[in-house]
Amino acid sequence: TEPLRVALAGLGTVGAGVVRLLETNGELIARRAGRPIEVVAVSARDRSKDRGIDISGFDWVDDPAELARHPKADVIVELVGGSDGPALALARAALGAGKNFVTANKAMVAHHGLELARAAESAGVALKYEAAVAGGIPVIKGLREGAAANAIDSVYGILNGTCNFILSKMEAEGRDFDDILSEAQALGYAEADPSFDIDGIDAAHKLSILASLAFGAKPSFDDVVITGVRHVIAADIAEAASLGYRIRLLGIADASGGGLMQRVHPYLVPMDHPMAHVLSSTNAVVAEGNFVGRLFFQGAGAGDGPTASAVVADLIDIARGEFGPPYAMPVDSLAAMAPADTGER
Ligand code: NDP
Ligand code: HSE
Repeated sequence: TEPLRVALAGLGTVGAGVVRLLETNGELIARRAGRPIEVVAVSARDRSKDRGIDISGFDWVDDPAELARHPKADVIVELVGGSDGPALALARAALGAGKNFVTANKAMVAHHGLELARAAESAGVALKYEAAVAGGIPVIKGLREGAAANAIDSVYGILNGTCNFILSKMEAEGRDFDDILSEAQALGYAEADPSFDIDGIDAAHKLSILASLAFGAKPSFDDVVITGVRHVIAADIAEAASLGYRIRLLGIADASGGGLMQRVHPYLVPMDHPMAHVLSSTNAVVAEGNFVGRLFFQGAGAGDGPTASAVVADLIDIARGEFGPPYAMPVDSLAAMAPADTGER
């Protein structure tokens, strides 16, 4: 059988994780996908960096966008990051060349998802982004496929592993914010610019993607109202605990009132609510469907292994030929939803 041949841009936390996963579980993946999945070409900034993986068998390309023209590649995987720049240039080049495209880049999908989905639909190729929301949790698949028969009124969750890790450790160990942020960075959880994590922007990117899937709405990142965790101090956490609450950074999207409300804030979560017990870098997402009821997805929200797991799951779908439109309905039938009137704008 012909393998699915992959060109991979970005060999950092997630990219190196994908190479390791394809090597470690290669046989299992080939059986499940119906054919082997092989990396043929890679790109990153520094060819000589020691990444703990062997890249000598792959073609090296300096400019990620060049991967789109690699003659053997069936699918391009983008793990560089950034909403624009080389990631977007590669996405446009890949879809423009009629190649399947997989990304973990929530910033790019939040800002340019509609354009990329149109390009994928017109080329009849896959645009897959399971890893972009909640790391290893198959929440895109869960909403797009598992809950596809339901009308969904609200979706919310803990969408940033770095913030949840910081808040959990501040409470458990009484340590300072900055110390713990460096630890989250060392573990590969944080964004290249960690202000995206602590200022709530990363969670807002993910929320706008979830809202578009749950409500069949055009993604509208600019309508998310955002407050991050930068100003939460240990005393806030202790006061909340004395009142029976934990502070959690939640992203909440609600379409029950007609308009679309999207908010990312630190919330006081009662100790008897399951969200209060989502600890460390774990993420959780709740969606309320009118027939299925409450769905609660929980699992690892960041880090190399879980994120690579989601990227390779997308590759397996492509190898099987099982992929539909990027938003579960044709992009031109997504509704334009006005932001809910919360009295703030
Ligand atoms: P890293 O910073 O660890 O890796 C980024 C990679 O991209 C590096 O290999 C880097 O090269 C390469 N790169 C950066 N800029 C360029 C450029 N201009 N040209 C060529 N290559 C470039 O990031 P992550 O692996 O953590 O994240 C990758 C993507 O996955 C991001 O979109 C992120 O938001 C997303 N993501 C990350 C998760 C995580 O837990 N880390 C979880 C879910 C999604 P070099 O190594 O040579 O410097
Ligand atoms: N920086 C992100 C987080 C990575 O901490 O959740 C996973 O998307």
